[in-house]
Amino acid sequence: MENRKRETFSSGIAVFFATLGSAVGLGNIWKFPYLTGANGGGAFVFTYLICILLVGMPVMISEFYIGRKTRKNAVGAFKELKAKPFWKSIGFMGVISSFLIMFFYSSVAGWVYSYVFKTLKGDFAVLASQSMEQAAATVSQQFDAAVGGPVSPFVWQVIVMAVVSIIIIAGVRKGIERITKTLLPLLFVLIIICGIRALTLDGAVPGLKFLFQPDFSKLSPSVILAALGLAFFKLSLGMGTMITYSSYFTEEDNLFVTSAKVAISDTIVSLLAGIAIFPVVFTFGMEPAAGTGLLFKTIPLVFSKIPFGNLLLTAFFFLTSIAATTAMLSLLEVPVAYFIEEKEMSRNKAVLLTSGIILLIGILTVHPKSIFGNVVIAGKGFFDLFDFISSNILMPIGGLLISIFVGYIANREDTENELSNHGTLNNRGMTKTYLNILRYVTPALLIIVFLNCIGIIKL
Ligand code: PHE
Repeated sequence: MENRKRETFSSGIAVFFATLGSAVGLGNIWKFPYLTGANGGGAFVFTYLICILLVGMPVMISEFYIGRKTRKNAVGAFKELKAKPFWKSIGFMGVISSFLIMFFYSSVAGWVYSYVFKTLKGDFAVLASQSMEQAAATVSQQFDAAVGGPVSPFVWQVIVMAVVSIIIIAGVRKGIERITKTLLPLLFVLIIICGIRALTLDGAVPGLKFLFQPDFSKLSPSVILAALGLAFFKLSLGMGTMITYSSYFTEEDNLFVTSAKVAISDTIVSLLAGIAIFPVVFTFGMEPAAGTGLLFKTIPLVFSKIPFGNLLLTAFFFLTSIAATTAMLSLLEVPVAYFIEEKEMSRNKAVLLTSGIILLIGILTVHPKSIFGNVVIAGKGFFDLFDFISSNILMPIGGLLISIFVGYIANREDTENELSNHGTLNNRGMTKTYLNILRYVTPALLIIVFLNCIGIIKL
């Protein structure tokens, strides 16, 4: 029983906020809108929602089961379950995915941090007196200047990693709980304000249509793969984050309910971000497919002509930086818990080693306009390459393996026992439905999307 002595989150509400803190991040506010824009809008959103329901949630519940049952990191958990060594590869792939994501995530988080600073300096105050065309041009130039310099984006990335490392070194409960519990609700309120303001703009109707009206002719194998990859990225799945986090859950936590609450809240935040951004795109005549800069080129315009606009803008980027930071805490926790528990490193050493590697390689991802901008591998820059390999390949493969492991290999009684909190919850029917989806629907969808993407079958 000695492994039960590991720290746990203090209460159910702390479990929820910490897990939501991992899920909600740049994925909602930056990646969801930019991918929706780049992949044609409604049909992509629709596909994404299906992926959350039939792939994301079943995989999330499975990870919760593995993590809480074993109370181990993503590699140790499979050892603890006495699984064949092969299954540990899920944990190893997870450690690699964490690194790949952090390489570019820390870079985008650096842009967000720098925007907090820019808004405090009042860089966007000029927008109030500019015409629409001028304002759209100003935000675009500001973005290029902020991320295009050879040095400053890297400096911001270093600041991001310093902040994250300090919080992680302070420990699980104190560090993660305190921040997520207080600030996530505030971010939620601010995005709602942002959305309401955006709905008063002239482009509100075309913006909403773009987001919610599916045009299925826009679907292609790569669009479907992108939606699937986003579902994994969004809910922090297929790479051990949720295994690691749920290893800190309390015994009383209802794993089904937590997963539903996290998935629904997370999706609401993403949709709200879309509602805040696309009306701006259509009001100011911008391109929905503006790419990674979309968030940074639109949000300053939402607040440009309203009272206290600059203050709200600062608050928006500040709270986004907090969401990005809590998501990074969970990302870093995967390799850190691995180094501590499997390689017997001290917590401080593990954090420093992980952060060091991230900075060393992460520099490759600073914006395409900077020094590494021209290096292209397999048609992609480092930024896109790291993103593609992690979200669209490794995490869905991790998810496939997790669904096969829990659906077919793990002891069924054990699974039912853990999901019902040792018989204290009356949820047999729910468990049955979940296991059926996990065994038949989830793996089948994942395999079909993969085969479709490499051209072996045609949807
Ligand atoms: N879910 C986070 C976001 O949307 C990113 C993340 C991915 C965090 C994987 C942990 C693990 O921003």
